[in-house]
Amino acid sequence: MAAVIDRIDALRRQGEDAIAAAESSGALEELRIGYLGRKAELPQLLRGVAALAPEERGAVGRAANEARRALEGLIEERGAALSAAELDARLARDRLDVTLPGAPACPVGRLHLLSATWREIEDVFVGLGYTVAEGPEVELVHYNFDALNHASTHPARARTDTFYVAAGHRSAEPSGQVVLRTHTSPMQVRAMEAQPPPIFIIVPGRVYRRDSDATHTPQFHQIEGLAIDEDITLADLKGTLLAFARAIFGEEREVRLRPHFFPFTEPSVEVDVSCFNCVRGLTSDGGRCPLCKGTSWIEILGAGMVDPNVLEGVRANGYDPERVQGFAFGLGIERIAMLKHRVPDLRLFYENDVRFLEQFG
Ligand code: DAH
Repeated sequence: MAAVIDRIDALRRQGEDAIAAAESSGALEELRIGYLGRKAELPQLLRGVAALAPEERGAVGRAANEARRALEGLIEERGAALSAAELDARLARDRLDVTLPGAPACPVGRLHLLSATWREIEDVFVGLGYTVAEGPEVELVHYNFDALNHASTHPARARTDTFYVAAGHRSAEPSGQVVLRTHTSPMQVRAMEAQPPPIFIIVPGRVYRRDSDATHTPQFHQIEGLAIDEDITLADLKGTLLAFARAIFGEEREVRLRPHFFPFTEPSVEVDVSCFNCVRGLTSDGGRCPLCKGTSWIEILGAGMVDPNVLEGVRANGYDPERVQGFAFGLGIERIAMLKHRVPDLRLFYENDVRFLEQFG
């Protein structure tokens, strides 16, 4: 009997060491089968207890049962520790860290150069105290031409120059009275009808002309400016445009005004900015500057003092030309963007080739 109990103790110690040393749940399962499985030695000893002499049964049975329970408990404990460690290891290997930035679904976009330029110009004038007004692109001939003092024979009224909009059958307007606006200037009159003086506004937006080549597209963008108050002079216009030119083209810029003609301003001027690509018309290698063509001045916009005939049309809203006066100007957003960023062909703005667009912004 002592030999059997020794064997049981030996099996128990062996099992305890093996279980403590098991390094995976797989290995532990093999130990469970090896020590406690149906064909293992310890359970067979237990089953053999019945065949022992009655006085031996108690001690052998107890020893074998204790050994079995001890090994079962150790297997359970070690098993829990092993599966926890295995879970940790798997999580460390395959973990999805939801705080990491994801893979971008598509490349990050940017503003189109025309939108960026539009906003940049707006910001300059908003900084000078102007407010932004927008108006209709489908416009009455009245606002586009008549109220802006255009003679009935003015060439811009020709159907070869301007898109006329056919009157729909429900339209209140007779044919020939509706156009796609050819400039943002009509909003001068609409804004003065809506608001008494003083008025300081800019008007950005799309305009349309029947033109198409490297420097003209049928649709392009302008920004109009209008400033009306008591005691506004041409010097105010020049100072305002100087501030604009320096904000957009650099602090060293100067502006000059050349006499010109527009129907709705008197006097009218074209405004040049000093070239930012050369010194007195010559580039650093001594060649003629291609940007200003060697003149050292670049035309940027049209402007002038608002013609009293225009104010006359809105006199009823407080614009008595004897009492208030002011200036207006109109610039092309494309032209400013082309000059500033050396864009050689206007059509590049509308082809939407990202190789062109992604160079800006
Ligand atoms: N409307 C003119 C054009 O499209 C530009 C212009 C010139 C606007 C003089 C003005 C101005 O307000 O005073 O060519």
